[in-house]
Amino acid sequence: MSSHTLTAPAMPQAEINQYPRQDLVSIRDLTPSQIDGIMQLSTRLKARPEDFRTALSGKHIAMFFEKPSLRTRLTFEAGVCGLGGSVSFVDQTHERLDARETLKDIAHNLERWVSAIVLRTFAHATVERVAEFANAPVINALSELEHPCQALADYFTLYERFGDLKKVRLAYLGDGNNVLHSLLLTAAQLGSKIRIATPEGYGANSQILIEALEIANHTGATIEIMTDPRRAVRGADAVYTDAWVSMGHELEADERSRIFPPYQVNDKLMACAPSHAVFMHCLPAHRNQEVTDAVIDSVRSIVFDQAENRMHVQKAILMLLAGSASRMPTRSNHA
Ligand code: CP
Ligand code: NVA
Repeated sequence: MSSHTLTAPAMPQAEINQYPRQDLVSIRDLTPSQIDGIMQLSTRLKARPEDFRTALSGKHIAMFFEKPSLRTRLTFEAGVCGLGGSVSFVDQTHERLDARETLKDIAHNLERWVSAIVLRTFAHATVERVAEFANAPVINALSELEHPCQALADYFTLYERFGDLKKVRLAYLGDGNNVLHSLLLTAAQLGSKIRIATPEGYGANSQILIEALEIANHTGATIEIMTDPRRAVRGADAVYTDAWVSMGHELEADERSRIFPPYQVNDKLMACAPSHAVFMHCLPAHRNQEVTDAVIDSVRSIVFDQAENRMHVQKAILMLLAGSASRMPTRSNHA
């Protein structure tokens, strides 16, 4: 019986080095030029999806979600299929990802089978730990600290509507949560302008804010923090809000429902913004809490453009991280 030596086809080192970061745990994992690259590629993917039908051919993507999802799940699944890849969705809402075995062991299993791992988790550290151990790209599909895919889709939506993102002013009102953190970091990376109005005690995570301000020092971004929602929307091109109670904070619902009403986006508040200003929301919306029906259903609302763009932008992210130019997933370096 003859013996065979199996060898993997070589990938040119220059091609591997083209994308030195392989994860999207935080917006901080991307450089400004990579974010710009995602915007450009998303434009092409949206205009001519038929040109990219085999971009993920032969690639399998695993998704584990500890929290419910409509948009993120469906846009990843449709996006992967549209690029010729395949996907497994694991409903992890009944128990935490590490309930049955360690994150390290899960990571070292997954890297043998899949080309990327998409995680929606309670603890941000869960995404960080899997990314630390897995020799396959890990994408944060929402953690308690960040929602990077959302923010990239939102800035792509603003790019489509207004062009030069350095000139765009986004006003974010409400809770200092995961969505805000990723918007803040993206605005900082892009050299854009962001104003944030939150109630006292519900502001952005201080470490994220410090990092965003540091990035802004280099990129020329403008970050303004305040508590007055009317002042925040003055001169804004877009007014953004999110749920007052994020997933995992349900026990605080009563207390928050007493504190947040001044931050409701209604016609009166939109009247303080320029007439061209659009309304944005990551969805799901809690109608007539953080936003009135009149605003979310108005012609100023671009919430479904944002939802559509989740798919185009996530396709671009997958191509950047898991396409043929990314690192080979089978070279395990057991940590
Ligand atoms: N915006 C967003 O992430 O929606 P889902 O929770 O439905 O995925
Ligand atoms: N901040 C919200 C976003 C939902 C997409 C949450 O974490 O529940």
